[in-house]
Amino acid sequence: MYKYLSSLSNLIYPELSHSLFLNFLKLGLINKKFQNKNLTVRLWNKTFSNPLGLAAGFDKNAEVITETTNLGFGFVEVGTVTLNKQNGNAKPRVFKIPEHQAVIQRLGFNNHGISEFSKNVSNFRKKSSKSIVGINIGKNKETVDYKNDYLNLLNKCKKLADYIVVNISSPNTPGLRDIQKKDKLFSLLNTLSKANQKTLPILVKISPDISNSNLEGICEIAVNTNLIDGLILTNTTISRDSLKNKQIRNSWKISEDGGLSGPPLFNLSNEILKKTYKITRGKVPLIGVGGISSGKDAFEKISLGASLIQIYTCLIYKGPYVVFQILEELSFLLKKHGFKNINDAVGYKLK
Ligand SMILES: Cc1cc2nc3c(=O)[nH]c(=O)nc-3n(C[C@H](O)[C@H](O)[C@H](O)COP(=O)(O)O)c2cc1C
Repeated sequence: MYKYLSSLSNLIYPELSHSLFLNFLKLGLINKKFQNKNLTVRLWNKTFSNPLGLAAGFDKNAEVITETTNLGFGFVEVGTVTLNKQNGNAKPRVFKIPEHQAVIQRLGFNNHGISEFSKNVSNFRKKSSKSIVGINIGKNKETVDYKNDYLNLLNKCKKLADYIVVNISSPNTPGLRDIQKKDKLFSLLNTLSKANQKTLPILVKISPDISNSNLEGICEIAVNTNLIDGLILTNTTISRDSLKNKQIRNSWKISEDGGLSGPPLFNLSNEILKKTYKITRGKVPLIGVGGISSGKDAFEKISLGASLIQIYTCLIYKGPYVVFQILEELSFLLKKHGFKNINDAVGYKLK
């Protein structure tokens, strides 16, 4: 049924179909839990009932935390939220490529700002203290003193989040990815760490287009200091190499500016995951995201070093029950390969 709805939704504006999806979720019709002991993950003193999370960007204003949690996710990440409300880039800014179950978008952190966002998260917290919720923070487009934005956001989210993600990898905010340079990031994280006082795990989300030297710099910070508690690999890519020579009906779409997500991102984000796991020698918890659309893909990310995984684009194409399908297949694959739990499988292909 969702397959037909999804094909129909390809005919309407992607942003309209996203808000219809959010409204559908608000009806609260789905409440799924996938229980299997081999999927439990212990990280940052927390127990994740399973390793599959909702990636940032789906619930930018923290409007549907209960409903997305009820799809069966082990954790959800909300945001990216900025200090002040912002509209993002001019429309159209989201382009679906159904033949490859992919999306290109340049939304540009459109969101209602931290004030409304934090009210939504507090309301959720009053109902449920157990679910694991990460908050992904970013700078406003016009901000020059970006440290100030991240610091204020951290302070406002401290009591609400289970972990914070410092997003420095969206391709749609000019200059943002420059903060991936070692000295800039080190200085930002130092400021955040003083304010955080080890209250929350601080994670950094990285671009798949990052240079080797910047990636090595970030890994050095992660291994040699206690400023980074985990890395999220990866955000969307500005590269179109994986779509070259592929059949695409509306081929003009691949020339649109923005970040590409979905299966064409899978190999590239896996390369970065693999490199990071090798450089950090498995000492830093990694969240793998980019192009997962099956339990097999999820298992691949875990075998390349991810302790947790996230999805976004496949939810658009495959619908809400994909969460359950991925978890069922992942649990089966762990057993098939002789692993008692996720932990035993993390990075096994690289050992
Ligand atoms: C429409 C859309 C909006 C996104 N917005 C954000 C965002 O606000 N912050 C962020 O860190 N990542 C954002 N992402 C990136 C995703 O969190 C994820 O890293 C990326 O899409 C790769 O995963 P996927 O292939 O499963 O979609 C967005 C992705 C999409 C498709």
